[in-house]
Amino acid sequence: MREVVLTVPGDFAEWRSAARGLLAGGVAPDDVSWRGSAEGASLFGDEATAAPAGRLSLPRELVQIAERVICHRDAEVPARLYRLVWRALHDRQLLARTTDPEVDWLRKADKAIRRDVHKMHAFVRFRRLGEEEGRESFAAWFEPTHRILRLTAPFFQRRFYGMDWAILTPDARAIWQDETLTYGPGGTKDEVPDSDVVEDQWRTYYGAIFNPARVKIDAMRAEMPKKYWKNLPEAQDIAPLIAGAEARVERMRATAVSVANPLTGKWRTRVQDQLTFGDEIGTLADLATAVSRCTRCPLHCNATQAVAGEGPGAAKIMLVGEQPGDREDLEGKPFVGPAGQLLNEVLYEAGLERRRLFLTNAVKHFKFEPRGKRRLHQNPTTAEIDICRWWLDKERALVQPDIIVTLGASALRGVTGKSASIKSMRGAVHELEGDTKLIATIHPSFLLRLPDRERAAKEREMFVADLALARKLAA
Ligand code: URA
Repeated sequence: MREVVLTVPGDFAEWRSAARGLLAGGVAPDDVSWRGSAEGASLFGDEATAAPAGRLSLPRELVQIAERVICHRDAEVPARLYRLVWRALHDRQLLARTTDPEVDWLRKADKAIRRDVHKMHAFVRFRRLGEEEGRESFAAWFEPTHRILRLTAPFFQRRFYGMDWAILTPDARAIWQDETLTYGPGGTKDEVPDSDVVEDQWRTYYGAIFNPARVKIDAMRAEMPKKYWKNLPEAQDIAPLIAGAEARVERMRATAVSVANPLTGKWRTRVQDQLTFGDEIGTLADLATAVSRCTRCPLHCNATQAVAGEGPGAAKIMLVGEQPGDREDLEGKPFVGPAGQLLNEVLYEAGLERRRLFLTNAVKHFKFEPRGKRRLHQNPTTAEIDICRWWLDKERALVQPDIIVTLGASALRGVTGKSASIKSMRGAVHELEGDTKLIATIHPSFLLRLPDRERAAKEREMFVADLALARKLAA
């Protein structure tokens, strides 16, 4: 009997290396005993498992599922997976045999992992730790059912690229710092602060979007199982919100017209209470404070908060988008939603570091149309862009970038005051007043909307080229 000792439970690379060695050595599943190492000691129990693997051809889907299922807490998983890969070597159709008990187990385990991953993506809540050199840091505590941290960390890396964060679980921690993702040992809940201002905002927002007329308690429990509640700031409000649901429905019926997002009022009151700024705007911090009180156009009525630009005050390149989207409106930061994720990827391909850029928008409040529980993006009008230029001009005056890259038509209008097509401006470097250069390109969400893959790939290439041009000019 061969004994394999796995030092890191749930580590796919370790299991795969052992399984490869065993397969190459022709060791049948019944002749292997898999166990975890309590001490985290030596890798494999005997030399046969470290045998060279050669090329073993396994169905790709099985390998992908194994990578997820290895995170399952069932102690039998390494052995069960090995049995399946052993069988798959001789039976290419194995995964199609849906009545096979081992395949059935695999599918169910995979479903449990995918569900756990989905819940973790939805229910991790960060608490603010502090700020250093203009970069904020956050930490979150989460207790997933399975050991899924490594499966989920890349999602948070993409989504919260611009800040430093750590996610602590009982098994391991993921740390994103200085644009590097590392893993460390498990932690405890008391390593993460209990609450912070972000949490307050989140709770108020949750209260605001909670629609008593649509409460379906069973569906809510299914989507947000009780075990996650203790770490969700908004969960403590669920019971009172539900209890008051009937009265709120009545009030909604009576008022009939839509009510402004209550957070708007709360947010603004809070900001006004805390700050006594005059009209002096000498720094980006003053500017952010002033923007947060902006009522220059009606867009402030429904948005959660204004989103000021972000980045170093001495940035050589300023990127201007259209307006904050749904996520940006909640987090108060530009480009942290899906368009921001895509932008991060493209910036990387163009050799630009996001943290060295100043990112802002032509319009500082999110414009949307409520549709059920969702808020659908609406383009700002030319008038709204023109009114908001007051802020953009102040950001330009403070940062004094050498190059401005406009993302999309609204940004182009915001910067130039003229409505021109991107096509007519693209591919050239234009001069703005004050010796600033302008590069006009597309908005990342344009790529997200393109159904034609080939066209999207071409457009993406051109987008990267436009950004690379900005990099070269700045150098
Ligand atoms: N789209 C934008 O134009 N700006 C953002 O900040 C996010 C999405």
